Amino acid sequence: MRRSLVVGNWKMNGSEAFVEKLLADLIGGLSEQQAEIAVCPGYVHIAQATSLCAGTPVVVGGQDCSHVQSGAYTGEVAAAMLCDLGCQWVILGHSERRQYHGELSALIGAKLAAAVEAGLRPILCVGETREQRENGDAETIVASQLRGALLEQANLSGLVVAYEPVWAIGTGLTASPEQAQEMHAFIRSCLEEIPGVDAGATRLLYGGSVKGANAAELFFQPDIDGALVGGAALDATEFLAIINAA
Ligand code: PGA
Repeated sequence: MRRSLVVGNWKMNGSEAFVEKLLADLIGGLSEQQAEIAVCPGYVHIAQATSLCAGTPVVVGGQDCSHVQSGAYTGEVAAAMLCDLGCQWVILGHSERRQYHGELSALIGAKLAAAVEAGLRPILCVGETREQRENGDAETIVASQLRGALLEQANLSGLVVAYEPVWAIGTGLTASPEQAQEMHAFIRSCLEEIPGVDAGATRLLYGGSVKGANAAELFFQPDIDGALVGGAALDATEFLAIINAA
């Protein structure tokens, strides 16, 4: 049995006051849920979030990390620094990193190695653009993103993969549960060919305009083990509805 996982990706949003209120509302609204829950604030709010989440079922992650452990890399944040702040997870290869920062699979793979070595559990994001889907290339793209980041890794313990079709992120367009399931099953079949991965035990998250109203039908699919949530994670009521559906 794979335990459901719901992760909030807050992206570049929030302030200290916002984080305090959001986490108070989220933690205060939790009931006896079975799902594992994580939130990923901007770097500057991580310490505040880990302190507010201490002793609760909510854990904290980063939205990215450096590909190296330390050194002259101005502006970068090392995986070990995220661990220092109490992070347990890190999102890697998000499409916004690929799009705005030119991140390619080799760099994402190096970040993943650095994250695992530091003791973080990586959430590797993959997904095709609208154009790639329309051209019939969605599976080829996703397979190459997986292989590019995961082949030749010494240790893939704790790996989670998030399928986030780029055309569904922040657009209000969600992949249909059937479209998402089809890609998740494909991702699981690709993982079977990656040494060091237990494909059947690896949790696969769906991401892209997930909200309270569409979460249950997505989670009902056999290969969807949770969600990576952007916009709806900034609203405690919506995020709680997603957690309760998981
Ligand atoms: P969204 O973002 O839920 O706002 O579509 C998801 C993500 O980018 O992780």
